[in-house]
Amino acid sequence: MPGHKNHDVNARDEREQFLEYATEYHAPVLCNTVIEGLITDQEGIYLDATFGGGGHTAAILDNLDSAGVVIGLDQDDDALSEGRKRLSDAVSEGRLILVKANFSDLESVVREQTAGPITGILFDLGVSSHQLDVGERGFSHRFEGPLDMRMDQKAELDADLIVNKWDASDLVFIFRKYGEEPRAKAVARAIVKARPIRDTNQLANVIRGAVFVLHEAKTVMRVFQALRIRVNEELDVLESALQAAAIVLKPKGRVAAISYHSLEDRRVKRFLRTGNFEGILQRDIYGNALTPFKELNRKLLTATESEQEKNPRARSARLRIAERTDLSL
Ligand SMILES: C[S@@+](CC[C@H](N)C(=O)[O-])C[C@H]1O[C@@H](n2cnc3c(N)ncnc32)[C@H](O)[C@@H]1O
Repeated sequence: MPGHKNHDVNARDEREQFLEYATEYHAPVLCNTVIEGLITDQEGIYLDATFGGGGHTAAILDNLDSAGVVIGLDQDDDALSEGRKRLSDAVSEGRLILVKANFSDLESVVREQTAGPITGILFDLGVSSHQLDVGERGFSHRFEGPLDMRMDQKAELDADLIVNKWDASDLVFIFRKYGEEPRAKAVARAIVKARPIRDTNQLANVIRGAVFVLHEAKTVMRVFQALRIRVNEELDVLESALQAAAIVLKPKGRVAAISYHSLEDRRVKRFLRTGNFEGILQRDIYGNALTPFKELNRKLLTATESEQEKNPRARSARLRIAERTDLSL
C-alpha cells in the first residue's frame, strides 16, 4: 500500500488494493476510500471503533508515520485476541492499542488512552464475516448453531431468551422495528406456537412455515436481522457513539461510517448532516448551520463492481465521511 497521498474522498482507486488487507477472518470493505477520507494527519490518533479482523486498522497503520497511533476497539474477545496475533508488531511498538469495549463507551475509552481530542474515527458497523460464518455464534440462518447472536459473549441477553420467552407482542414490535418485516404477526405467532425452539435451523424453518414461499428468504433474513439488532442494541449504541464522536474529535477531525442497512444508514446520515437523529438542521441568526459535522460526500460512497464481485458483503456497504466543524458542544 503506498503512502497516503490525497484527501479527496470521492477519489476511486480502481486498483484492487482492497484484497491486500483481507484475511480469512474478514475482508475490509471500501478500504482505500476509507483511508483516503479518514486520514488527515499521519501522526494523528485514530479510533477504529469496530476492529473486527483488523483489516481497516492494518491499512490505517500502514498509512501513518511511526508517531501515529490507532486505538482498536471491539466488544468481541475473539476479534481482539486474533488481532493481537495479526498485528503483534504494532501492539508491541505501542502504535496499536486494543481495548475491549462497546463503542457506546468510546468517550471514556478515548479519555483513558489519550490526553486530548483525536484525529479520526471509523465505524464499520454490524458483524464480521468470521462472526457470521462460525455456526456456534448463532448469527446466521445458513449455519446450524445455538440461538446466541451476542457480539459480546459475556452479555446477558441472547437470542434464545427473546425467541423462547418474550411475549408475541414484543416479538412483533422488534420484527417490525428492527427488521421492517410486514408479516411480523404471523411469524411471532408461529414462533410462540413452536416453542421451545432450540437452534438457528429450527428457527429458520419455523419462520419459513409462517409465510408464503415467495416471502420465505426475505422474511428469514429480516427476522434474523431484527433479533441481532435487539440482542446487541445496535441502533441505540450507534446513536450514543455518534454523539460521543462529536465530543472526542478535534475540529477538522473526520468520522467515516460504513452501514449495511437503511436503519443504520438513516441514523448516520441524519446525524452527520444535522447533529441530531430527527434530521432537522438548526441555523443561527446569520443562517449558518449549527451542526458538529459537515458531510464531505453528499453522494453515497459505495464499492466498485469489481470489489462487490470479489466480496459480496461489499454490495450493501454505504460509506459516509464527515469532518468535525468548530461548533463547540
Ligand atoms: C464489520 S466488522 C469490522 C471489520 C473490520 N473493519 C475489519 O476490517 O476487519 C464489525 C466488528 O465490530 C464489532 N462491533 C459491532 N458493534 C460494536 C459495538 N457496539 N461495540 C464494539 N464493537 C462492535 C463486532 O464485534 C465486529 O467485530
